[in-house]
Amino acid sequence: MTRYHPLEFPPDFLWGAATASHQNEGNNRNNDFWAWEHLPGKIVDGSISGLATDWWDAERGRAEADFDRAEAMGLKTMRLSVEWSRVQPAPNRRDEAAIDRYRQLLLALHQRGIRPMVTLHHFTNPLWLAEQGGWLDDDVVGKFVDYANYVVQKLGDLCDLWCTINEPMVYAYVSHLRGEWSPGAKSFGQTFRVAAAMAQAHVAAAQAIHQFQPQAGVGLVKNIPVFDPARPRHPLDRLVTGWQDRLFNQRILDAVYKGHAKFPLAAKAANPAPGHDDFIGINYYGPHSVRFDLREPFTLFGKNVAPPQAEMWDAPWADRQIDPAGLRRAIKRMAAYGKPVYITENGLADPADTRRPRFLLTHLAAVQRAIAAGADVRGYYYWTFVDNYEWVEGWTTPFGLIALNPETQARTPRKSAALYRDLIAANAITPEIVEQYAPEAIAEIFEA
Ligand code: BGC
Repeated sequence: MTRYHPLEFPPDFLWGAATASHQNEGNNRNNDFWAWEHLPGKIVDGSISGLATDWWDAERGRAEADFDRAEAMGLKTMRLSVEWSRVQPAPNRRDEAAIDRYRQLLLALHQRGIRPMVTLHHFTNPLWLAEQGGWLDDDVVGKFVDYANYVVQKLGDLCDLWCTINEPMVYAYVSHLRGEWSPGAKSFGQTFRVAAAMAQAHVAAAQAIHQFQPQAGVGLVKNIPVFDPARPRHPLDRLVTGWQDRLFNQRILDAVYKGHAKFPLAAKAANPAPGHDDFIGINYYGPHSVRFDLREPFTLFGKNVAPPQAEMWDAPWADRQIDPAGLRRAIKRMAAYGKPVYITENGLADPADTRRPRFLLTHLAAVQRAIAAGADVRGYYYWTFVDNYEWVEGWTTPFGLIALNPETQARTPRKSAALYRDLIAANAITPEIVEQYAPEAIAEIFEA
């Protein structure tokens, strides 16, 4: 029998899990997504976020109990977000009690030896901002920087890893082009204006955070789908693949890391001055195989059509492919900017947990191989810790290492939770771990 060597991670590698305020806290009644989920027909299962994972209520202490579980699992870090609508419930009002609760949560993490990473914007906007035009408002950059300043002054002693904005292109695209989130617009012009505003807001907030907390690590979180032509030699597939990559990936990377903000139809945006980022956050959920299709104007005439041999997510709603090699490509592309990288999200919705163990192992193997090849990847945040409210998918797509019954709030760890604990304890992918949790993946992992 072949003897395989463990794939080892660097000694200070940060093993983590990622979460977000609206998806976890519960009762976020003052933001635009809460309003949206209450409109008929917006959420596939007609559900609302409700209590979500009930992290906000201090007396019930369910966040703290989850942090106990995270500690027992060996987690080194946890990514969570601050809800703008809680700390600034009205344009001229700030809520100290909300800040206090965030301080409690961050302290609770520190007490368990878990380093927090905090995101300032994860898809939701205060209702008052939405009423002023949201990310189309002329002053939104200033408003975001004010909010960021306030949060960092209040929480900076408890956090030194800040993500400014989560997945700006996903937010711009889903809210302003696909019309699936508030405000439900279908406009290319709006989409690019929002993207340009978010790029500027990121740069300005990073600068502001550094003024107050020079030693802090600050980064943008970018969802990096790898785009490939469905038919590699087909000129139209290649053409639209290039368009998608430029508009979804490259334009905002150029804006943020090079100061070239060239978003079409968004002439109003000034070029941000780059250079304040300390790391790059990569969210990776799979590749896109792009096929030219005239019926798809919203995706620039490129339809995501998986090749027949592709392995797919086992869910009727997801046209997502499973491709750990794509994560390695995403890391290579982003590591070329010369900054440390965190995998700020990577995960799979898999209620029965039949595919997640292999998914976790093969994606982590891709991370390890990228590190071995020289990429400076500092940590990995599995999305997500406990099943949470999945935006328009409602409660239908459980990503958690731990299963949640949203009605009873009962938690049940999945097999993947034990796998993650064992990986963290070993700080490596060992042949024994693979044999135990996903023996079918042994060659894929060690002979890559
Ligand atoms: C988002 C998360 C979301 C996850 C799974 C990411 O795009 O940042 O909020 O739950 O994907 O779909």
